[in-house]
Amino acid sequence: MAERPGRGSARTVTPAEKAQARAVSLRRIGALFIGHRRHLSVVVGVIVVSSILAMVSPFLLREVIDVALPDSNLTLLIWLVAGMVAVAAATSALGVIQTWISTRVGQRVMHRLRTDVFAHLQRQSVGFFTRTRTGEVQSRITNDIGGMQQVVTSTASSVASNFTTVIATLVAMAALSWQLTLVSLVALPPAIYWTRRVARMRQAITAQRQRELAELNVIIDEGLSISGIQLSKTMGAGDAQIERFTDSSHRLIDLELRSELAGRWRMATMNIIFAAIPATIYLAAGLPFSTMSIGTLVAFTGLQAGLFRPLMSLLDVGVTLTASLALFQRIFEYLDLPVEVQEPATPVRLDHPRGHLRFEDVTFVYGDSETAALAGVSLDVPAGSSLALVGETGSGKSTIASLIARLHDATSGRVTIDGVDIKDLSLTQLAEIVGVVSQETYLLHTTIRENLRYAKPDATDEQIVAAARAAQIHDLIAGLPDGYDTMVGSRGHRFSGGEKQRIAIARTLLRDPRILVLDEATSALDNDTERAVQRAFDELSAGRTTVTIAHRLSTVRNADQIAVIDHGRILESGTHESLLDKGGRYAALSS
Ligand SMILES: Nc1ncnc2c1ncn2[C@@H]1O[C@H](COP(=O)(O)OP(=O)(O)O)[C@@H](O)[C@H]1O
Ligand SMILES: [Mg+2]
Repeated sequence: MAERPGRGSARTVTPAEKAQARAVSLRRIGALFIGHRRHLSVVVGVIVVSSILAMVSPFLLREVIDVALPDSNLTLLIWLVAGMVAVAAATSALGVIQTWISTRVGQRVMHRLRTDVFAHLQRQSVGFFTRTRTGEVQSRITNDIGGMQQVVTSTASSVASNFTTVIATLVAMAALSWQLTLVSLVALPPAIYWTRRVARMRQAITAQRQRELAELNVIIDEGLSISGIQLSKTMGAGDAQIERFTDSSHRLIDLELRSELAGRWRMATMNIIFAAIPATIYLAAGLPFSTMSIGTLVAFTGLQAGLFRPLMSLLDVGVTLTASLALFQRIFEYLDLPVEVQEPATPVRLDHPRGHLRFEDVTFVYGDSETAALAGVSLDVPAGSSLALVGETGSGKSTIASLIARLHDATSGRVTIDGVDIKDLSLTQLAEIVGVVSQETYLLHTTIRENLRYAKPDATDEQIVAAARAAQIHDLIAGLPDGYDTMVGSRGHRFSGGEKQRIAIARTLLRDPRILVLDEATSALDNDTERAVQRAFDELSAGRTTVTIAHRLSTVRNADQIAVIDHGRILESGTHESLLDKGGRYAALSS
């Protein structure tokens, strides 16, 4: 299956470990409700009262049949009938209250889980997102938590309600006739047996179904996002995509069918058994030595018929809970992901960051990669100066850029700003100090104004216009019919590469970072556009520490310092002239 296996999933899991994992998650599920104990006890109280209240009815019925009707006692009859109506009214009212409270509790628990998962994933380093398919994350947050919600809200309240109904009914039945009560209970052992079998089946099917739902989501994301649809249209992959979607959807039919049917044949068997019980009871009541009144018989079979539904759904709780363990486990798996790039416990605050950037013998290895992407890189970029990184594709330039913004943490060595290890700065301050513009700009599907404001929520309209002017994009925006209120389209597809790039620059300008990292920000642009964007960069770079990664050497010759990167190492560094004089790799590249 396409799902990414978790850590350590390669070895086989013993049944004992499985059982332990289950116990742990049951306790964890319980812990989700701890904060709602007060509300839950109110729910239980309401349920107990209404179940006991409901038990009064059969006794009233027995009095109607055995006393009021034969004696033609109209007053008693009216009282008894009124009592029956009152009991029904009271239990219904209590039912409404109970649903209200338990749904609220269930919804709050789900809300907490949803927001916890979202917040936790937001803290994950980019490494997680490169490993994980977008649709998979969405599916867990919507489908899995959605599925849990159903379980939690319906199960939590039905457990209590059915449990008390069953107990109260049994007590009332025993009060009427304990012999017949025993006869009625013969159905219990087969019911429990079937239920356990179904529970196991359902859990397996649910896990499989959620994986399939995630798969479907991934296909939707890959097939129907703007980049995905462009790829599929240009590659003529439309039919294949439809086929992939159809196959996945088809497998879902099968899983849903199996999931639904898993319980049905058990229900059918139990229905037959339960239908046979009243028949047996009438038979027993008709036997010569029976002394039962007709009222008792009617009341008893009434009670007994009412036992079926709550008893079965009580047994079902086990089934749904076991099935939903699969859902909880998928969510807990996300909540348990370690955060790779961690916020320091006691952050150092730089009051007036100058932007002196240093790499001290930095080595970096991606995930479980065999080779180091960076090996022993040392760089010193004084505040306000510029460094250019050149080198072949795959030499490690973007990796250096990502370490400055702490998208990853160095495997060994340190990256410092003004002498402080960036791991000791709060992530918020680091983001304030370091601004990154890369080749791939991501614009939100909203107006230009909102896109710019994303960088600085309290920016005034004047500041926004000033930033756009500096980024050489104001005239273009002002010329649009809706100006700054123009929608950028999904991921900014309404704009050309150069235009998007300049919007991204304006966005970074608004943040006013001390250290600016430009990762091949102009390499996708044609010459004219590049010149316009380059002017924007010059504006942006003035007075800041800049690290520029550029494809065209023409754009880096003025840098204070140029470093040539090769296979994760610094091959040589110096100014344009000194490197040319040296006649090494840089000189070879320039000629
Ligand atoms: N997320 C990643 N996971 C594993 N390896 C990666 C990842 N990103 C880049 N690499 C590898 O690290 C090396 C350096 O990549 P990169 O820094 O992007 O190079 P450049 O920007 O100079 O073209 C390459 O060999 C690349 O394959
Ligand atoms: Mg790169």
